Amino acid sequence: MKNYVILGVAYAFLLVGSTSALSPQKVEITEVQGPSFQSPLAGQVVQVSGIVTAKDRYGAWIQGDRSDDIRVSSGLRIYGSLAVKLANVGSRVSVTGRVTEYRHDSNDLYLTELDQLSAVEVLSTNNIVEPLVLGVDRTPSRSRLSSFDVGPDGWLSLPNNVTMLESTNPTLRPEEFGLDFWESLEGQLVTVPLPTAANFPDRFGSIWVYGDWPVVGQNQRGGLTILADPDGIPPAHSEAILIGRALDGTRNPKTMMGMKLSNITGVVTYQYGNYYILPLTAPDVLEAPPAEVPPSTLNSSIHACQLRIGDYNVENMGPRARHMPRIAAHIVGHLHTPDIVFVQEIQDDSGPRDNGVVSANKTLTALVDAIKKASGGVVYHFVNIDPEDNKDGGAPGGNIRVAYLWRPERVSLVPGTIGNATIATQPVIVKNGQVELSHNPGRIDPLHPAWEETRKPLAAAWQTATGERFYTVNVHFSSKRDSSSAQGDARPPVNGHAERRQSQANVTATFVRSLLEFAPDASVIVGGDMNEYLAARAVLHPLSTVLHDANEVAGVPLQERYTYVYDQHTQEIDHVLVSNAIADREGGVEVEHVHVNTWAESYGGRASDHDPTVVRLWVCDPADSDATEELGADHGQIVL
Ligand SMILES: *[C@@H]1O[C@H](CO)[C@@H](O)[C@H](O)[C@H]1NC(C)=O
Ligand SMILES: *[C@@H]1O[C@H](CO)[C@@H](O)[C@H](O)[C@H]1NC(C)=O
Ligand SMILES: *[C@@H]1O[C@H](CO)[C@@H](O)[C@H](O)[C@H]1NC(C)=O
Ligand SMILES: *[C@@H]1O[C@H](CO)[C@@H](O)[C@H](O)[C@H]1NC(C)=O
Ligand SMILES: *[C@@H]1O[C@H](CO)[C@@H](O)[C@H](O)[C@H]1NC(C)=O
Ligand SMILES: *[C@@H]1O[C@H](CO)[C@@H](O)[C@H](O)[C@H]1NC(C)=O
Repeated sequence: MKNYVILGVAYAFLLVGSTSALSPQKVEITEVQGPSFQSPLAGQVVQVSGIVTAKDRYGAWIQGDRSDDIRVSSGLRIYGSLAVKLANVGSRVSVTGRVTEYRHDSNDLYLTELDQLSAVEVLSTNNIVEPLVLGVDRTPSRSRLSSFDVGPDGWLSLPNNVTMLESTNPTLRPEEFGLDFWESLEGQLVTVPLPTAANFPDRFGSIWVYGDWPVVGQNQRGGLTILADPDGIPPAHSEAILIGRALDGTRNPKTMMGMKLSNITGVVTYQYGNYYILPLTAPDVLEAPPAEVPPSTLNSSIHACQLRIGDYNVENMGPRARHMPRIAAHIVGHLHTPDIVFVQEIQDDSGPRDNGVVSANKTLTALVDAIKKASGGVVYHFVNIDPEDNKDGGAPGGNIRVAYLWRPERVSLVPGTIGNATIATQPVIVKNGQVELSHNPGRIDPLHPAWEETRKPLAAAWQTATGERFYTVNVHFSSKRDSSSAQGDARPPVNGHAERRQSQANVTATFVRSLLEFAPDASVIVGGDMNEYLAARAVLHPLSTVLHDANEVAGVPLQERYTYVYDQHTQEIDHVLVSNAIADREGGVEVEHVHVNTWAESYGGRASDHDPTVVRLWVCDPADSDATEELGADHGQIVL
């Protein structure tokens, strides 16, 4: 056995008059880590010993004896070329260096490490460190991420960014809080038994997984849903962990939601705003879920009053969009050509070109033509209102907007005058006490500051083939751009533009309320991309006070309510909300989120980033409508 002692760097320090001690304090790794987020020894030069568990291009990880105190990690990152040169996996080493709290970005959490290494001495080789088995030795917390995520919506509470975790540096409570749990294992070697992937890889090839331990909101596919549980705090899914790039240079598999992987062993670290396990070697795929996505079962309607309504964010669709035929195929094959389709992200006729064009007639014509072709003849009509050029956010020049497609044999717009970009439509009472919209369709309060730089909602008054009225609002609220990492320093984390979405929900709710004041029994459907979970109750509260979530009325299991996958979460950010009249009507409401995109085999294999939804509901009572027989003849046509 050879012992290496490297003192060159310490000597250099002495020459420049560094304060680095000649005989540094000998401490245990657990004393370096301590029971808080930050080291009690930060800034001090210490000598520690431990067994090397892992290595990368910049340093290594060492592990000492475990503490009985679960708050205190026994692993440590050692950073620098001396570690790269001398710390080989399995060696017991004595390391002298400075305790440092490092972070790359001001919203990151700190990683405790030893840098400015002055000595790395190999004491013995071929030692073995048994990894801690997650789910057996220690089980990830499923509760709040942090003690500072106060408020009824947990990590989604408003106001957010109230406390900076690192400036408070609390003592860890690993059994209660997710960040505390992973921090208490920082630098340690752990195994994730029987991992399941929760998402596609991110753009760096990192993958979110959870292991063989209890999780919250697990859907049937294997993803983890942000539940909008009326009695609970929305889960932050800190029981899932990111698997970073493998330390031996092997590549992580291209995962999809629900994919089963081989056991992962690696070291716990923090980087790029999240806790990670850096695997010693990349896992293998053991089992992929079925590639086939079943179509909706809501394939027909039995009556003029019973409508099927689709909702689909078609992701930046211009007239020549390559994904258009696939979107059309989804509307036909998976949604069975609903009676009305709410679409979002229709680009103008010049697509992404920033040339002053705002009309989307060509785009919408191309889409309905593609549907006609895919279905063998189903004809949709369409309507939208052109925004003012570059006033509605999104990619410059794209002028994305919401639009309606509908099947004229099933429904039609109540005759009226279409609005424009700046006119606000209003509910008005006309003869017989019937409610119309001053512009049909029309935008809701388009000059309200809530809509600055974003898409305005499109309200419409409709009639069924039997002349019964109902109303819709198609929305696309501001995105979550500028959110901070949920595992970052700001607590609760920043939910980008949440106040703006709250205000947009409020303006939309005010409109619906004014309509219901005239006609309390009106059938109203508000749908679209709200870029927010109902679990963020404070944000969508204005709408929740006046409308019902169709999922709730339909009794869709909480964990199956999702249209999007982001980080480790499946989440419902596209919603269909209905008025009392629809919620209470006999016949009920049925909802299916059709997972054509969140279940795709690869990130690039998706047609859009959102899943479409189809609902079947009654907008009038069959008894109030005398056209059951007339419709018999039509019925064959509408079932496709
Ligand atoms: C993976 O972990 C499971 C659960 O702990 C264990 O039963 C299994 O033997 C492990 N597989 C391998 C190949 O180590
Ligand atoms: C519609 O769906 C039902 C239930 O899934 C199925 O039994 C029926 O065959 C389907 N009909 C058509 C026309 O696809
Ligand atoms: C778009 O189509 C509508 C009718 O569908 C028409 O009234 C309008 O003039 C068209 N706009 C343009 C710019 O062609
Ligand atoms: C909308 O119509 C109103 C009334 O006709 C008009 O004053 C306004 O300029 C129009 N707005 C746009 C953007 O065309
Ligand atoms: C949180 O607020 C502080 C000011 O108190 C600000 O400096 C910081 O950038 C904010 N964090 C995020 C992630 O927006
Ligand atoms: C919602 O809108 C109403 C009516 O315009 C207003 O009084 C209230 O302050 C708004 N609330 C929020 C949270 O924006």
